[in-house]
Amino acid sequence: MDSQTAPLVGFGAGKVILLGEHSVVYGHPALAGPLSYGVTARGSKAKKSQLALPDTLSRAQRALLTGAFQRAARQCGSPGVKVSLESELPLSMGLGSSAALSVACVRVLLKAAGRKDVPAEVARLALEMEQEFHGTPSGVDHTTSAEERLILYKRAPGQSAGRARAVKSPRPLKVLVALVGERSPTKKTVGALRERQARWSARYTRLFQQIGTVATEGAKAVEAGDLEALGDAMNVNQGLLSALGLSSPPLEDMVYRLRGLGALGAKLTGAGGDGGAVIGLFLEPEQAVAKLLQLGVRCFSSQLAGPRAL
Ligand code: PMV
Repeated sequence: MDSQTAPLVGFGAGKVILLGEHSVVYGHPALAGPLSYGVTARGSKAKKSQLALPDTLSRAQRALLTGAFQRAARQCGSPGVKVSLESELPLSMGLGSSAALSVACVRVLLKAAGRKDVPAEVARLALEMEQEFHGTPSGVDHTTSAEERLILYKRAPGQSAGRARAVKSPRPLKVLVALVGERSPTKKTVGALRERQARWSARYTRLFQQIGTVATEGAKAVEAGDLEALGDAMNVNQGLLSALGLSSPPLEDMVYRLRGLGALGAKLTGAGGDGGAVIGLFLEPEQAVAKLLQLGVRCFSSQLAGPRAL
């Protein structure tokens, strides 16, 4: 099928950060993988590049999304396509919904422009959109979504884009994702941490370095198929995030619940704060998911990497 007749559909996966959120903003590595859930963008022929948005969005939200979309569209030569979106992801809960939306839109824009949607180009353009949403994101969210595989991501300080290395897992890597409470915007949590970091620089620098080391060790554990070591790295990372002031009673409570249900490791994922997403690494998460759903907890499971059962 040539680019003229191919359906204009693009998918952007949501993501979870297994290890290394926040320290990745300061140049340290993070281990992140794609969820099986995400955002789907569908394009239909139109006179100009256009994003169809639901009426339920506020005027400010519409302006932000339209501005970001048009920024990416211009880079693709403003192809004549109207893009609509369907999301399976909860918004603003640490699962990379804005990055998934950016990747899905960019895939459709590239296809409409008759260009190949290779991951590196998708990531470059999705970063343009993410910069509208978040200012100066580390890039781990949209890179994981564009690559659609488990990666160790690192961005040197001062650079806008980082580098990703694929991390192969010989074993299935499955997580339970639980959603807890309400969350402050990532920008606010990242900004407050930056103030603490500027004030007590030496101490915070040490903690960021520790998290970076734990992320590198975690990637090695994955490659060695040592899920117990990965789980331990996640638990230690949670302790360090807590030391940085990024956890809260509802998140801690869920972390301990997941560990109680047999998680090899559990931690908050994403920006953290008053609420958000918590992940638990399980060999088989289904029983724990069923138990938590019965108790009214919003949760699901996803395989991030490794061989899949047929
Ligand atoms: O917006 P979230 O919750 O997916 O968090 C993104 C990860 C951070 O490290 C906190 C920020 C960043 O730019 O990497």
